[in-house]
Order: sequence, then structure tokens, then C-alpha cells
Amino acid sequence: MKIFTILFSVSLLIQINLSYAQKAPDPKMNQYITNLMSKMTLNEKIGQLNLSGAGDITTGQTKSSGISKKIREGNIGAILNLKSASKIREVQKIAVEESRLKIPLLFGMDVIHGYQTVFPIPLGLSCSWDLELIEQSARIAAQEATADGLCWTFAPMVDISRDPRWGRMSEGSGEDPFLGAQIAKSMVKGFQGDDFRKNNSIMACVKHFALYGAVEAGREYNTTDMSRIRMYNEYFPPYKAAVDAGVGSAMASFNEVDGLPATANKWLMTDVLRKQWGFKGFVVTDYTGIAELIEHGLGDLPEVSAQALRAGIDLDMVSEGFLTTLKKSIETGRITKSDIENGCRRILEAKYKLGLFENPFKYCDENRAKTEIFTPENRQVSREIASQSLVLLKNNNQILPLKKGGTIAVIGPLADNKFNMTGTWSVAADFSKCVSLLAGIKAAVGNETTILTAWGTNILNDSILDSRVSVFGKPTFRKNMPQKEMIDEAVEVAKKSDVIVAAVGECAEMSGECSSRSDIALPENQRELLKALLETGKPVVMVLFNGRPLALPWENEHIPAILEVWFSGTEAGNAIADVLFGKVNPSGKLTATFPRNVGQIPIYYSSKNTGRPLLNGTWFTKFRSNYLDVSNEPVYPFGYGLSYTTFNYSDLKLSTSQAKGNQVITATVNLTNSGKTDGAEIVQLYIRDVVGSVTRPLKELKGFQKVFMKAGETKPVTFNITPEDLKFYNGELKYDWEPGEFVIMVGGNSKDVISSKVNWQK
Ligand code: BGC
Repeated sequence: MKIFTILFSVSLLIQINLSYAQKAPDPKMNQYITNLMSKMTLNEKIGQLNLSGAGDITTGQTKSSGISKKIREGNIGAILNLKSASKIREVQKIAVEESRLKIPLLFGMDVIHGYQTVFPIPLGLSCSWDLELIEQSARIAAQEATADGLCWTFAPMVDISRDPRWGRMSEGSGEDPFLGAQIAKSMVKGFQGDDFRKNNSIMACVKHFALYGAVEAGREYNTTDMSRIRMYNEYFPPYKAAVDAGVGSAMASFNEVDGLPATANKWLMTDVLRKQWGFKGFVVTDYTGIAELIEHGLGDLPEVSAQALRAGIDLDMVSEGFLTTLKKSIETGRITKSDIENGCRRILEAKYKLGLFENPFKYCDENRAKTEIFTPENRQVSREIASQSLVLLKNNNQILPLKKGGTIAVIGPLADNKFNMTGTWSVAADFSKCVSLLAGIKAAVGNETTILTAWGTNILNDSILDSRVSVFGKPTFRKNMPQKEMIDEAVEVAKKSDVIVAAVGECAEMSGECSSRSDIALPENQRELLKALLETGKPVVMVLFNGRPLALPWENEHIPAILEVWFSGTEAGNAIADVLFGKVNPSGKLTATFPRNVGQIPIYYSSKNTGRPLLNGTWFTKFRSNYLDVSNEPVYPFGYGLSYTTFNYSDLKLSTSQAKGNQVITATVNLTNSGKTDGAEIVQLYIRDVVGSVTRPLKELKGFQKVFMKAGETKPVTFNITPEDLKFYNGELKYDWEPGEFVIMVGGNSKDVISSKVNWQK
């Protein structure tokens, strides 16, 4: 294992990385674009605002494809989801050789967690808390995607979510704004590299602006409604961090914000994004976002297109509302020419920044495509990152790590299922090259161990539900056998083994877009399998695949060892085996709370106290804030995750208990690796602002460090704290800190912390 200590000065994290910050316009670029725009007709300017799907393009037929005519006529500014350098070259050729002004196209795709080398789903990646590795994953994704012709990715997705019913939690970094903001920054840096002009920098697109993760009832595309103070403190930070990191574009979310869909929301797109945060890039709608405004009840296509443009949208994804209605809307006075020109200028600026005017084929080097994609080196990094993202949830009697030798039964519908290893949004993956758990285990144990296997049960009993989640070329591989027979067969196999590895959970598309669930337990048929396996009396290790927090109270009570593996990407099987057999000591920590049941949602660690908090040590008292039927506690809290070793925290010392003004104080804790194995611990710093002009959370994450510790070692871990870390948006939405008492807490998860107090005056 690599030896690392990643140290973040908490206050430094707030600062803008200057090399990436939103830059003031470059006069040379302005001149170039002004010149170009002076030659453009109104139609051509509107054409730049149109993002079209790749439609019927196949290599060799590009010229006769439906969209080639539009490109020639200057009616398309960008293309979505066209894959391969050679196809992109063909299409770009039409734009720069056959259209009147030869303006190159942007080519965008959802490169969310890797390109052909797929990394863990973003929720999994976030559980590594390893900003360097996360940045590296985005860098490799950019390297591979640009080698295949792409210059723009619809990532990072940074929506904070506290509702695991929402399937898209899988695409984000969990529930916390501080961690989410650091990850947003790292991903933008990774994608965009240090210079747009290099041919391996891809323009990032922060999405979905804004608040998409707070859709009511966790139901996809649903309404969102929240106070502005909550938006600014809890949901906006990751979007803002991406803007501060210099993200080149942003995507409007489908949901409404403050009574108006984001796509038509001028306050959001112009006042917040551009005026308050200084965003200088362009804004694209989400898929059919403009046309959907009709269903939202805002008017017909000409009306909603005009509203979206006036709100600050520059690029219309697929609706063709801009293309077909804006010209007329100038005549009817709905919009002005300068509304169109502003948008057109921003799209042309993106093309200029990427260097496409100098070389439109900059990303179309078929040689790069052959040598830089899915390389052994990239796969190796994917394996390493995947192993860092796994979270050990339970490990009674140190069942894990498994010993090699003897007989291991690998049972379950996800045991040998390579099509379900990469999870949602892995459009460029070659599933046949993914490593299944069974393959990973076999490779790890060599000939020393007998491996037996059985299907055990289908992922879902209900075949209709199964067909809903078997889209995008990722079938669940359902077996047409009665449940009882599948279980009996598995039990027979289990009886012959020394230990059972049960590979259960969700299939890839049970989370992701339009995969909301009203019940987030394991499907009952899988639980039946687990019960039958437990009855054999053999030790059971549950390897859990999923794209969102699940409700696992039963599993936590009965299964002796649980390893959360998310969807870990191309190298999933190898990375899981690395952890199962102890080659890698797990260090991942949850970035979203795992509830007991759906009724507790939304559940998150940074909640407020209420006027009637629970009394210490009780979980129910009449007329207190609680439930009759379930405790307020989750099954696993934010920040939680075990290791094959144990860590003790002691002696939290602050450099002072009386601070004044803009000083830096330190909080130092003694960390001991009290077990027998070397390992890494993610040390977390939380702060509570005890008295405020508005109510403040019980604790907020303000820093973290991943520290590698030799067995038996003790070392001090220090955090710097400055007033920057105490700031929040107050009732007037002013970002500042207020003097008074602060509780400083340090621990290995959000629940188990040790604390000390400081009084900080201005
Ligand atoms: C999703 C976006 C995605 C877009 C383009 C939409 O359905 O919401 O996240 O970027 O499609 O594929």
C-alpha cells in the first residue's frame, strides 16, 4: 500500500486556486470573436445555441445523416454523445469544410466516472476521501475521452443529496457540502488539466444547477423547495467550488427552484451564478430542459425558449426551442438580439478556449485512441482507487481478511456478473472486459483455494421490475428457475465450503437516472438467500453492490461481515479481492448516512438540534423529537467505516481556548493504530457553532486527513482552524462568522468524536 498523508489546511481549501479561477476575458479572444460574429447572420448565431444528439450518425454515412444538413447550414453548435475519434473527425469536417463560416463543433458526452477505463461510481469514489486519487481518476477520464475525440464532459455532478430514494445519489459525492466542494474542485482540476489548450484537457460541466438532489420524496424530476439560507449553506457550496475552480460550463437542473424551473430561473442562472459567483463560462440545459418547461406550465415553445434565454441559458440540449423560435421572438419583442449574441459569444468563447479554431481536429488523433485508452496503467489506477473506495461496514470476529486455502463459496446474482460492475453512466465501457467478483477472487487465490459458486437467487424476483432495470445493455442475467431451487442449490454449495462470500445488492441500473426507489431495503428474495446461507452455520461475508445508501438494519444485526463495494468499475473484482484477502486494508468511509428505514429520510449528520432534542442515552421520550417506532439513529452514520486494524483517538488539545480575530489555532489529537495491521484512517474534524444569530447544525465537517499508520504507532494529527472555517450565510445571506463558543470535534466518523471548546472573539 502506498504511504500517504494528505493534509489539508482547512482554511486553504476555501481559497480559490488562482490558475483555474474564472478568468477575465482575454482581449485577443474578444477581438477574434467580435470579428467572427460580425460576419454571422442571425440564423448562424442562433445555430450556435443548438446542441443536437448524434442521431443516426454511423462512420461512413455521416454525410448523408440527418444532422449533416443542419451542420452545413450552420444550425448546430455542438453534438452530444458521439463516440470515437474517427466519427467525430468526419462530423467536424462537415462543420469546418462545408459550412459557410467553418465554425467548429463542440463534442460532449457523459464521461462521469471514467471513459473506457471505468472508476467507481462517484458516490463510491467520494468514500475514498482521497482528493488526489479522485483528481487522478478525472485526469485519466479526460485523457481517454479526449483521445477518442471528445472535448467536453457533462461532469462533475455535484448535487448534494440526503435522500437515498433518489437513484442519482450514485452520481454525486453524498450529503456533505464541505466534502462535496473539495471533490467538485478536484474533479474540475482533473478534467480540465492545467491548460485548455492541451489536447488532453476536457471542458468540465458542473451539474445539475441547482438543488436537484433535494427532489421531493426522492422522486426523479420532482419539485424542489427550500429556504435560501439552506441553499447557500448546504446545497450551493459544491457548485460554487466548481465555479471557483474555473469550470468551463454549467448545466441547468430539471427541477424547479423557488417556484421556477432552473432552466427558466434568472435569479439562479444570472444573479447567483454569474453576478454573485463570477461564472464566465456557458450554461447548457439538461436534456429537453426547455421543452419540459411547457409541461411545467410556463407557456408554449416560443414562450419558454425566450424565458430560458433571458434567464441565462446559452445552449439548448435537444429541444430545438432556440433553433426554431428565437428569430420570431425577436420580432415579437420577447427577446433582444443581444440576448442571442450573449449566448453565441459564450459558446464561441468555449471553442476558442479549447483551441478548436486553431485546430478543429485537435482531439481527433486516431493514434492516441489506439494507445491511450484502457491501458494497463489506467486499469491499475482504477483498481487502486476502487480498493480505496470500499467501506467495511461490519467485521465480527475478524472474519475478514479471508485466508487463502480451503474452500470458498462465492454465491449470489452479482458474483459473476461483469455487466453490472461499472454502475450507472458508463457509456464508453466495454462490459465484456470488466472483472467480476468471481474472476477477481480466482485470480487472487491462484490454485491454493477451491472456489465453488452458485447463482442463489435473481437480483429481483419481479420480472417486470427486472425489465425496468435491464436497460442500457446491462441485463441482470435473470435465471428462469424457481427461487427455492436456486436457494437449495446455493445451500448445497455453501455446505461444502469453509466460508461464504455472498454477492448481493442492486444491479447497476437500480440506481442512476430515473431509478428512484420507495423501498431501499435489499429485495426480499435476496434476504431469503442470506437467511438460508446463515442457517448453514458457515461464516457469511456479504459483499454489497449498490448505488445509494440502503436500509440494512436486519443485515447489520445478522450478517457477521459486510463489505460495501458500490459499483467499483472496470477492475471491481480485482479491487474487491484485494480487500477481501487483505492485500489492501480497507479505509473508505461513508459519505452518506445509511438509514434504518425510508421513514427516517431525510437523515444526515449535520442536522439542527430542535427545541426538544432527545435526552442523552434515550431514543424515545414523550414530547421529544423522535419516532414511536424507530430510533433517530441511522444504521451507519456519515464518515463511518472500519479497518482491519483499530484506531484510538485521545488527548484532543487546542492551541488556545480563547482566540481572537483572524488567528490560526490548531487542534491536535493523538491517533494510535491499536491493532496488528498497518492501515490508513480518515481523521475528521467537525465544528459546532454553539450560539448563532440563526440556528446552526450540531456539527459540520470542516477538515479531514487520510493518515497512514503502522501497527502500534501513535502520532499526533493536527488541523489548523481559522475564522474562515467558522463562516456561514446568516439570515441576510451574508457570509461571515459570529463570535462566541465553538465545539471542536475530532473522530473517525461523525458520531464517535472527542471534543474541546474554544471561545473566539472578533
Ligand atoms: C441527464 C444529464 C446528462 C444528459 C445528457 C440527462 O438525462 O440528466 O445528467 O448529462 O442527460 O446525457
